[in-house]
This record gives sequence, structure tokens and C-alpha cells, in this order.
Amino acid sequence: MGLRHPLWALVNADSAAGAAPEHLLLGVDYYPDQTPEALWEEDARMMADFGFTNVRIAEFAWGLMEPSEGKFDFAWLRRSVEILHKHNIAVILGTPSAAPPPWLTVEYPEVVEVNAQGEPLHPGGRRFSCPTNKTYRRLSLAIATEMAHAFAEMPGVIGWQIDNEFTLSSCPRCYCNFCRAGFQEWLRSKYASLETLNHTWGTVFWSQTYTDFNQIPVPLPSGGDPNPGLALDYNRYQSYANASFLEEQLVMLRKTCPRHFVTTNNVGPPVDYIDLHELYKKLDFVAFDNYPGFFEMLMHEPAKGGPVPGDAIRTAVAMGHDFGRSLHGGKPFMIMEEQSGKAGQRTFSPQPEKGQLRLWTYQAIAHGAMGVNYFRWDTATFGAEQYWHGILNHDRSTSPGYEEIKQTVKELKSLGPELLRSSYASETALVFDYDCDWAVQIQPGHSALSYMNQATSWYGALSSGHTGIDVIVPGVDLAAYRIVVAPLPYLLSDAQAAKIRDFVQNGGLFISGFRLGVKTESSQIVKTPLPGLLRDVMGVTLEDYVPIYSGKPGVKFSGALAGADGECGIWADVLKPAGAEVLATYTSCAYAGKPAVTVNSFGKGKAVYLGPDLDPASLARVLRTLAASAAVKPPIETPTGIEVTVRKAGGQQWMFVLNHTAASQTVRIPKPCTDVLTGEGHSGTIELSAYGVRVLETA
Ligand code: GAL
Repeated sequence: MGLRHPLWALVNADSAAGAAPEHLLLGVDYYPDQTPEALWEEDARMMADFGFTNVRIAEFAWGLMEPSEGKFDFAWLRRSVEILHKHNIAVILGTPSAAPPPWLTVEYPEVVEVNAQGEPLHPGGRRFSCPTNKTYRRLSLAIATEMAHAFAEMPGVIGWQIDNEFTLSSCPRCYCNFCRAGFQEWLRSKYASLETLNHTWGTVFWSQTYTDFNQIPVPLPSGGDPNPGLALDYNRYQSYANASFLEEQLVMLRKTCPRHFVTTNNVGPPVDYIDLHELYKKLDFVAFDNYPGFFEMLMHEPAKGGPVPGDAIRTAVAMGHDFGRSLHGGKPFMIMEEQSGKAGQRTFSPQPEKGQLRLWTYQAIAHGAMGVNYFRWDTATFGAEQYWHGILNHDRSTSPGYEEIKQTVKELKSLGPELLRSSYASETALVFDYDCDWAVQIQPGHSALSYMNQATSWYGALSSGHTGIDVIVPGVDLAAYRIVVAPLPYLLSDAQAAKIRDFVQNGGLFISGFRLGVKTESSQIVKTPLPGLLRDVMGVTLEDYVPIYSGKPGVKFSGALAGADGECGIWADVLKPAGAEVLATYTSCAYAGKPAVTVNSFGKGKAVYLGPDLDPASLARVLRTLAASAAVKPPIETPTGIEVTVRKAGGQQWMFVLNHTAASQTVRIPKPCTDVLTGEGHSGTIELSAYGVRVLETA
């Protein structure tokens, strides 16, 4: 009955206690706080009938749980949990710190965030409070602690979501005086002495030498750009401030509710204000939110009004899943909020087309999810999210997606335990380095250069090969991979350079984008010829590095990469081989005929330098050719718009074939297989309907 042995138990051997997974976590985000109590029973009955096994509730209900400071009322929430439990719906409770109530901000107005222009935010929305502020922290911990005591032993409660979407805000970093003091403290412990700090940042420039930690500012508007070392450290501090805010609640929950799991959610990763690796490090598993239709709306170029390229959405979603999974080394993750209808606030996306809600759910499972909660059960008739449509309409009739989601839940429950225990297979890693991202934001070199865009387009180019990608942060062990790619690896620490060196030495293929190793981890430029620490591994030095504002230089491929000429976008690193072989040259501009792409043999492996910002088609072709040279090949060839992932367990393997197009498609399969959803055997070819899904078991 209910959720006795959820798959999440496998994530932590301690809590698994020998339990075999029964099924995925399949649930819905529910707001009893916004629903008349007379409807709670009906809601729970309908959810159980729907097939849901859990809800997430209460993450914005601070005002109801603590109507005035220190006066707590959990009676209503207990009644709600009791009803849900009676219907075998397990409960994930959200701690409510993302939405402080009005009594708090009137009594303590200083808790609000200050934005990057130095202006305070105002209460009235959510996520407007400062992660450093001690009063906000004290009160957030107090309500979470009272809640934890009230629900630690309550039947039906299985886990916690701390806060809600740390990465979401109109102002994702705070620049208030409390943060300034917190930053100074953090610097004191990082650098110990002012001499080291001054030296590391190079504060002699523009007479910024600090003689007391109290003098150090935060990077608010000044008469010129901030010191790059200070600005980078400030972003690191803000990441730390959020992670340590979360940790206060985590430590308390571990003590008070030892039987429950603890996680948090976020806007689909990688969102780059907080280092998510740091944020999720001590949590039981990774959870995040997924709204493909909303992404499409955001990506829509309002000025041009043009359609978003079809691949952009599915690639962004896939990258989010691969990033989320990789944060905990490939362990199963959960989608805490999944789109279930039209999504938006002031403006909103259209209703997903028939098949898309099912497809997006399977896409998550294909990338290693162990559960999906749909957002949300009913649709609010009041509040800022009246247009964020749920599984029930405003009038509580069933939404256009109701039957599709219900059917999907039913199907997913039939998946066998072997498949649920399997892992996403990947031999390729894409390095996503927050330090590089932040340092490029501080000094992009070219106004249109963005680390996130580079990482996303490299991910898109790689994913067309269907070979499986982990999106890793720099500290991760590389030994498990055959290929490691690093787009825009602007900052390179000694430790990271050593890891890459070992990886190549031992037979790996390392592919670097332009701007390799330009800066040290403290954001000083290296004093050696570029690419700095990896010169010998890459077998090249840089003749020049060129931001491009007009024209697009051509790129001509030769040798192993031979194919149609490419185009160079906004950046060109011009290479000078020192042992490396030239694989492409520039064909126009001052550096026509100069090397653009090189490969170097180093130890048992190879290192490729991609000097140009290559057009997407060339980038995809080049990466695919290089992958094939390292014997990393697609499991099957597909028409465009089809995504393939592989999950493996022991000798078994399952191939997820996902049709992201509105047309039916035929896909050739190399060997006979069984569709685990229909039980049918296939050989030769399989058909996929519009937005159709196949889960194929192959030997
Ligand atoms: C998420 C958030 C939810 C809700 C949802 C729809 O980003 O966690 O609280 O706002 O989007 O807007």
C-alpha cells in the first residue's frame, strides 16, 4: 500500500534497508493551502484514482503555518496529510522560506535583497530575501524546525524539499550590506591575509589595495568595471551563501526527521547563478523542475516573433536532465515539477500537443529520472499563477492533458524493476565549469560571447550523435569516459589541467573549444603563451585570439575532418602548431591559411583544439567524426528530431527512442528487440507516431 519502497531508497544504501524498488515516484504538486478544505477529500480520492503515489505540498504556506511571529499552526496541514495518507498518497513537504509573509517584512524590512544596481527589492512577490541576512535565516530555520517536529512521525510523510527554486529570481544575487559583511568574512577565511588577497586580485591596479577587510566592496556600479578577481569571488560567495542557507535547514532535518529524504528543486539546470554541485552536494538526491513549453516561450524572440528552432527545446531539456543526473554522479534524479498544461504567468505557452506530455515524461525517464511530479493538480483562480494550468481546469473539469498523463502514469507503473534500476549509459563528458561561466560574464571579450550559449550549442552538437552525455563539473573523475569536451574553457586551475593531462595520457580524447586556459582560477591571465598549462598536451601555441564583429571567416577542413567548409561565428583562436597536426585552416580575413583546428597525440591519447566558434552544423559534424575516431558510435542512426538514449543494467539494455516531431517517423533498428510498453517484438524498422515513444529492450 502506498509508497513503501520508493526507488529513491536505492539512492542511499543506508535507507534502502534491502528494499526492492516497487515503482517510480509519480505524483503531483498540490496546494491544500489554496483549496477549500471541503475539496481535500475529493482531491485525494481523484489523485489516488489517477494513479498518483505522492504529492509535494506546503512550500509557500509560511503565512498559514506561522500567522504571527512564533505562533505556529500546523493543524490544517496535519488534516491535509491525514486525508492524503488515507488515500495512500505519500507527502513531500516543502519548507516555506521562499515566500516570507507580510508580518515578517514589516517587522524586519532589512531582509530584502538588493539588486546589482544597488536597489532594494520589495515584498509582494516571492524570492525577495537575502540569503546572508541573519534574521531571515533565523526565522526560516525556526519555521522549518517547527514543521519538522510536527511532521517527523506523521504517517504518510516521506521527505522534504528545502525552500523552492534557489535559482529563480528577478535578482538572483544579493548586494546588500549584510552580504557585503558576509563576503568580507568569507574572504577572511579564504585568504587569511590581506597581503594574499591583494596579490591574488592585483589590487594595485587603480589604487585598490585594501588595508582592512572591512574596506572591501561588493561589485555594485562604480566608475569603471570591478576587479575581475573580486567580481568572480563575489559570485562564488553568493553561491556559498545560498548553499549554506540550505545547509542550515538540512542539518536540522537530518536530526529531526532521520527517516525522511531531503532534497530541493530548481529551475531546470544548468541555471548558472548558484553552483548546483555545491547546492546539492549533501542532499539525498537531485530534484529539479521541467517546463519545455515555458522554455519555448522564453526562447521565442519577441522582436522577430519567429519560431524557436525545433531542436532547441528538446536539447535544452535533455541537457538539463544530463546536468541534473551528473550532479550526483549518475544516480537517479526526480522531476519535482513537470509541465502539465499551458504554462506561464502574465503570458503563457499553448497547450502541449497531443503526445508531448507523455513524451516529456519519458524523456526524463530516458535520462535517468526515478520520478516525476506534475505541476500542478488544479489551476488557481487567484494569485500570480492563474495561467499556470494544472491537471484540473479553473472550474475543476479535467484538462486537455488529463487522460494523457493518467495513461502515462499507468504505463510507467508497468515498467519492470530491472529497467528502473538501470543507469543511463555515457562515454562522453561535457565539462560545465561555473568559474569559466562567471569569468566570461564578467569579461566576455566579445559582447555576444556567452559560456552558457557555447555549452548549450556544444551539447546540442554532441547530442545529435545519441552517444550519451554526462554534463560534469571540473572535479569529477574522468577515467570513466572516452571523450571529454570542454567548450570555452577560459579558466583552468592547476588541478584541472593535471586531470586533463592524465586523461589524455591514459588514452582519452580531449576536445577543447577556443579560449583554453587563458586565466588562472583567481582570474589573472596566465603569464605563459596560451593555451597556458596545457600547451604541451595540445601541441600548439596561440598566434592570436580574435573577437569577430563583421563577416564570418570560412573554415576549410582537411584530413580526418574533411567535409563541407564551415563558418566561424564570433570568435577565432589562430593556432600555431608545436607538434600538433592541422585539421582545418581559416580561409578568409587577415589569418587566411592559418591553422584553425589541430590534433595532438599525447601519451596514449589525443587532444583536439577547435579554434573557431564553428557554425552548428560543422560543429556537430566535427564532433561526430572525432567521436567515431574514438570508437564512440551512435546505437542507431535516426532521422532528425529523434532522440535516443540507452539505459543499462547488468547484461540488459534498453533503448529509449523519442520522436520530438509532429510527424510520424520510421527508424531502422540494427537488431531484433522487444518494445517493453507493448510487448511486441520488432526487427528491421520501427514506426513512431507524432511525439511517439518506444522503449526497446535489446540483448
Ligand atoms: C516553478 C516554481 C513553482 C511555480 C511554477 C510555475 O518555477 O517552482 O512554484 O511557480 O514554476 O510558475
